[in-house]
Amino acid sequence: MARLVIVSNRVPIPKARIATAGGLAVALRDLLTPGSMWFGWSGRLASEPAAQPALVEARGVTYATIDLTAEAHRGFYVGFANGALWPLLHFRLGLMRFRREDYEGYLAVNRNFAAVLGGMLQPDDTVWAHDYHLIPLGRMLRRRGFGGPLGFFLHVPFVPPSMLEAMPVARELVADLCAYDVVGFQTEEHARDFRDCAQRMLGAAVEGEWLRLNGRRVRAFADPIGIDAQAFAHEAARAVGDKLVQRVAGSLAGRALAVGVDRMDYSKGLPQRFEAYGRLLERHPEHRRKIHFLQICPRSREEVDEYRRLRAELDRLTGRINGRFSEFDWTPLRYSTRAAPRATLAGLFRIGRIGVVTPLRDGMNLVAKEFIAAQPDEDPGVLVLSRFAGAAHELTEALIVNPFDPDAIADAMHQALSMPLAERRHRHAALKAKVLRTTAQAYCRRFIDALGAPPVTPPLSQAAA
Ligand code: F6P
Repeated sequence: MARLVIVSNRVPIPKARIATAGGLAVALRDLLTPGSMWFGWSGRLASEPAAQPALVEARGVTYATIDLTAEAHRGFYVGFANGALWPLLHFRLGLMRFRREDYEGYLAVNRNFAAVLGGMLQPDDTVWAHDYHLIPLGRMLRRRGFGGPLGFFLHVPFVPPSMLEAMPVARELVADLCAYDVVGFQTEEHARDFRDCAQRMLGAAVEGEWLRLNGRRVRAFADPIGIDAQAFAHEAARAVGDKLVQRVAGSLAGRALAVGVDRMDYSKGLPQRFEAYGRLLERHPEHRRKIHFLQICPRSREEVDEYRRLRAELDRLTGRINGRFSEFDWTPLRYSTRAAPRATLAGLFRIGRIGVVTPLRDGMNLVAKEFIAAQPDEDPGVLVLSRFAGAAHELTEALIVNPFDPDAIADAMHQALSMPLAERRHRHAALKAKVLRTTAQAYCRRFIDALGAPPVTPPLSQAAA
């Protein structure tokens, strides 16, 4: 029987006490029907490379995971994926640290994934690989003889050819992506940049969403990811009863709550955001004592130097802002590096008057969609959103800002705090309708439909029509 096999670096084994794939598990929930499989890294380091996966069955789904050696993990995850690819794909060339041995490690882990997964695949399986950790996996599975449909979705942004060319193995990466039948991106802009790269670096012919290369056709298209907005809205309404949410609401003492939730990552624009909040309090003293800014940013990837530096910078900025503006009974900025349960976040989004989502670059950013879904329709808050988040392509009724400009973010926060109820309702209704329409289910369906269509049909000229 044909199975769907999902592959990602992190695997969200239900109820297991290991790292999860975050929003991915929620986004793909509908696809995890009995008989399907999810394959990836166990989250554990071992002394020997894995030859056999550990298998866990939950609700008819098989979760197959392998351990990595510390050395493999260093080259693959710390070195190439997060030390070179991540900064490059987030337009931060200056932070890209390319080392040939890291790339070799990245290839070796993908080869190991292909060997172990290849041993479990049946000829009529469909494989859907996720994110920048697994770019070469498709080619490696093909080399091992797998002939079924192969798809790849990139959760992070993609860059134009002039930027990708700085990566010494750019051509190999683009060729590897072209080994898949379908390659999905968060926005049309990223899909177009990829097709441009394939054209310029590999001489691929581009017609609409299709690439023709070495007698094969590859579809490279935009498939924006969404959330289960209905369920999140219910969760948020329920979560206002959550003890912690009630404690936060009580501690506000009638003040407005501005809320930001981000993994602690330099792509999230956190120093600029803190700076912006300081500017707001400086230039608009009328908001002092009337607002609390709560920034939750769970620590992340601390093996990478740049992430440790960011943490030190945020500690310093928090101290500066609170030192300057605090009063004995009012602390303007609350900053926590602890992760919070999903339900608590939903409740905090619901009581937030401003959602501050200002990444310098982001594939999509689901926090923006969650904030909208969580808000009460009758008295909604306002979303301040970076123009460089994929979500800004859809959520155009948010207050769209340039995240590199702290004054612009401060102006938007001021506008949000002063916005009349009628305008807040009007903007929110439009945004909520979009978030309810562009769901996780729709995202999955589009991708699976694209993968289900045999890659050689329709003929190239019709496909572009
Ligand atoms: O945004 C890309 C992404 O891979 C997400 O899918 C995931 O939630 C996040 O980064 C986590 O990163 P890591 O696995 O490095 O902790």
